Amino acid sequence: MGQNIMSLCPDKRLANRFSPHAIKEHLGTRWLGQQAIYCFDVVESTNTEANRLARQGAPEGTLIVADAQTRGRGRLGRSWVSPPGGGLYVSMILRPACRPDWFPRLTLTGGVAVASAIQQTGMRPQLKWPNDILIAGRKVGGILTEAVFHKRRIDFAILGIGINVNTERHELPISLRNVATSLRLSLGEPVSRIHLFQILLQQLEQWYEFFCAGDFETILKIWSAFDTTLGRVVEVFLPQRRLVGLAEGLESNGTLLVRDKRGRVHRIIAGDVVRCKI
Ligand code: BTN
Repeated sequence: MGQNIMSLCPDKRLANRFSPHAIKEHLGTRWLGQQAIYCFDVVESTNTEANRLARQGAPEGTLIVADAQTRGRGRLGRSWVSPPGGGLYVSMILRPACRPDWFPRLTLTGGVAVASAIQQTGMRPQLKWPNDILIAGRKVGGILTEAVFHKRRIDFAILGIGINVNTERHELPISLRNVATSLRLSLGEPVSRIHLFQILLQQLEQWYEFFCAGDFETILKIWSAFDTTLGRVVEVFLPQRRLVGLAEGLESNGTLLVRDKRGRVHRIIAGDVVRCKI
């Protein structure tokens, strides 16, 4: 905790290059990352690549990592700007034998893993429902979870994670410069992508096992400890309308609860949440 992880990777040039060998070396996981890892210099989207591999039968835990994406995708049809050299863009193929309505829980599980990994770099990450990772109120990462359902089960799911690790300010789109950041910009020094990735894999392995065991209560407890909107006034953009109210945290299934000024509690299943400055 609090250790500068760059100091663990003295060769900064090597530390910055993704390869299955570099990722697997000293990787402290039992199964995640111990099998197939596909590393690309550039892809359209690691989620698209993961989808293709999953349809060909790639097993659970297969990882797809890219140095850059040309069409990185975010939630609600947004794009995820993915310049080379500074970001962590990764997708993980999952084949959970669980009820299909557990699918939204995967995003929250991923959020706990990402926030816990970033916390180990000495920073104080926050989570914003459902898929944002923030530092000091600015977005530093996001999660895009996609799935293919077959009959009454999840055929496969893709957990896609994007983190601005060493991204420079000028590499962020102008429109996002005041609302986004990178770990490097927040910490004031570079962070080893490989080492961060290794910590992330450890966390993903641990929290995905909680998910599979059905212990969502523990995941929610940790998620809530990182929750940036809990007890705050938020504005929620829903498909047909807008709602302002007090964020009261998450229900046991991961739904966001917002109480409006009349005292009515709304259960938010999908929407965009903005924290109000009051
Ligand atoms: C969001 O904040 O809306 C989610 C962003 C998710 C971006 C990651 S980068 C790796 C993976 N591949 C993609 O195309 N998207 C996800």
